[in-house]
Amino acid sequence: ASSSPDIRERTLIAVKPDGVQRRLVGKVIQRFEQRGFKLVGLKMLQVSEDILAQHYSHLRAKPFYPDLVDYMTSGPVVIMVWEGYNVVQSTRSMVGHTNPVEAPPGTVRGDFGLHVSRNVVHASDSVEGAKGEIQLWFQRQEILNWESCDQAISC
Ligand code: TYD
Repeated sequence: ASSSPDIRERTLIAVKPDGVQRRLVGKVIQRFEQRGFKLVGLKMLQVSEDILAQHYSHLRAKPFYPDLVDYMTSGPVVIMVWEGYNVVQSTRSMVGHTNPVEAPPGTVRGDFGLHVSRNVVHASDSVEGAKGEIQLWFQRQEILNWESCDQAISC
């Protein structure tokens, strides 16, 4: 077995409509940049009910699903692909429990959220799940593989 870390793991993160409306986009992005993850895809869009039905297919039978659709379509979302070592698990722990009441301070939901129905962000919960979600939300050419440059003037 190889011990080299998979630095190309990817996840899907979204700032939900409440996060956009509360001007939290920059703060959310800053946390993942600061941790060392790499932003490789980013767009703002109005979510359609169709894409939402696919994204939340595991929740369609839940009593809260109609409210979830209203919430997620109440304004634009900022949707992103982040890349890096262990990015799925690490960003999930940075985002915190689904219910902000259970999310400790220091997590996005623990710092910015009050109620499960307005929990500010989405983060994929597994590597496999992330692959499906990235395919659902992004076209291949919308994900950019840039290299880092340390120089302030030229590389
Ligand atoms: P889920 O996929 O279970 O959690 P997570 O977003 O942490 O992966 O649920 C998706 C979204 O559905 C969740 O972020 C907020 C909403 N939701 C409710 O509104 N009420 C609930 O009781 C639950 C479990 C989720």
